[in-house]
Amino acid sequence: MLTEDASRTSSPAATSQRDTSAPICYLNGEFLPLADANVNIMTHAFMYGTGVFEGIRAYWNADQGQLYGLRLAEHFQRISDSCRILYMDPPGAVDELVALTVDLLRRNDFHEDAYVRPSVYKSTQAIGVRLHNLEQGFYILAIPFGDYIDTTHGIRTQTVSWRRVSDQSLPARAKIVGAYVNSAFAKTEAQLVGADEAIVLASDGHVSEGSAENLFMVRRGELVTPPVTDDILEGITRAGIIEIADRELGLRVVERSIDRTELYIADELFLCGTGAQVSPVTEVDHHVLGGGQVGPITRRLSEAYFDAVRGRLPAYRHWLTPVY
Ligand SMILES: Cc1ncc(COP(=O)(O)O)c(C=O)c1O
Repeated sequence: MLTEDASRTSSPAATSQRDTSAPICYLNGEFLPLADANVNIMTHAFMYGTGVFEGIRAYWNADQGQLYGLRLAEHFQRISDSCRILYMDPPGAVDELVALTVDLLRRNDFHEDAYVRPSVYKSTQAIGVRLHNLEQGFYILAIPFGDYIDTTHGIRTQTVSWRRVSDQSLPARAKIVGAYVNSAFAKTEAQLVGADEAIVLASDGHVSEGSAENLFMVRRGELVTPPVTDDILEGITRAGIIEIADRELGLRVVERSIDRTELYIADELFLCGTGAQVSPVTEVDHHVLGGGQVGPITRRLSEAYFDAVRGRLPAYRHWLTPVY
């Protein structure tokens, strides 16, 4: 399905002279300027939030003159799973979708960090809320992208009054467009009271995650993170941190429920995700952690993570797809 459509293009192949302020995206079989990639306001996903998406990073390594797509196969596997949950067909095989993304990044000729957002959405133009028997569309957009939140000094977090969507109402393990209103409520509440980021509890009161990040706590020498059954997105960065903790630090990760007040007495705390990368937390609900300094385990995990994603650690080359 992809191979035929993906060969069509409305713009010539990228050259190094291309205007990088006008990104090229992929929409339903065509490559076209982002400014021309529009959908009708009656599109089901626009009216009801019935789409799924991924947030992916590509990291530029200036020394190697290379752009690396990070964990592309894992992201396309997850969007395929999200599609199944929302009664949609995955838009292609995982390896086809990876190849399409590499093609798109090449056409954009990025020589800087980039963000890639594929989305499969209900494209039928009709009133009527349901998930079945609807047409679907597919786009991938790619734009230059830097840091999303601070990754060096430690951020201030606030446990918010909103609860994370639950598997009984809106599954958190699928990356559903409409569910991000829950994340937006959380982030806004945290920022309006002066914090940088939200900590969101599951409906049973246990810690779930940040507004768009998974959470890790260091306590009594253990690295602890909520299990996938505590209404979290099954994060790809989370899986990477578990791999790094084991290989680089010999640290076993315990997946168990976390109480809110455990965060107040944690030795270290950090959030992680594609956007957030590794973001140390030095304050929760006005409790200062580690004297306000980034802790040693967070620091080592973070350094290894950034080396891995930029292609500086051979042991993590399997995470990366070179674009050029
Ligand atoms: C709600 C939520 N949790 C966690 C994450 C982290 O997931 P990943 O590391 O796969 O980006 C994200 C980011 O995509 C998210 O939106």
